[in-house]
Amino acid sequence: MNKSIIIETERLILHRLVQTDFDNLRNILRDEEVMYAYEGAFDDTEVQEWLDRQINRYENDGIGLYAVTLKASSEFIGQCGLTMQDYNNSKVMEVGYLFRKEFWHQGYATEAAIACKEYAFNKLGVDKIYSIIRNTNTASQKVAERNGMVMIDQFVKHFKGVEMPHFVFLVKKEDYEK
Ligand SMILES: CC(C)(COP(=O)(O)OP(=O)(O)OC[C@H]1O[C@@H](n2cnc3c(N)ncnc32)[C@H](O)[C@@H]1OP(=O)(O)O)[C@@H](O)C(=O)NCCC(=O)NCCS
Repeated sequence: MNKSIIIETERLILHRLVQTDFDNLRNILRDEEVMYAYEGAFDDTEVQEWLDRQINRYENDGIGLYAVTLKASSEFIGQCGLTMQDYNNSKVMEVGYLFRKEFWHQGYATEAAIACKEYAFNKLGVDKIYSIIRNTNTASQKVAERNGMVMIDQFVKHFKGVEMPHFVFLVKKEDYEK
């Protein structure tokens, strides 16, 4: 299995998820509070589907959500990465993040999200990066703002039978370079 390092920051390493990350993923994805934006915790089948989806994304899109580990201890603290999402009848590249609660409020999500944005601009040649965030998810919106993004639009997503208004955040390479 290819546990290749994709991105390294001052405190973090982002690597591709592999099957042996299942238990770590399970820890995050079955936490009701972390999974609030997804309308609740996942069961084991949904965790495996989530992992399979990332592995398929690496193969098909060359990107996906990555495991985020601490450089200092190798501890798995969350996920952050790049995925293709539907917006305005086309596919856009999104930076997304989910972290274990014990590691919130230490700037890790922002550090990982900025690194993913820079990877997309500098290594993948993309000129726009989005984050599509539930209207009530203030913590995530603050990460987007710290990542240099501005809110440009909103729309309603239908998920698990619930109507969820979402805000669309965007940062353009030309603005990031200024
Ligand atoms: C979204 C989520 C990742 C944000 O986590 P977070 O801990 O708030 O974000 P950061 O890691 O960037 O931490 C920022 C906070 O750490 C503080 N901080 C401490 N040390 C810091 C440092 N060295 N650098 C930057 N910020 C630091 C900041 O002041 C900020 O404080 P605040 O939360 O009081 O504003 C987290 O809430 C989460 O996992 N939520 C569940 C999943 C989810 O909703 N994902 C998004 C779906 S769209």
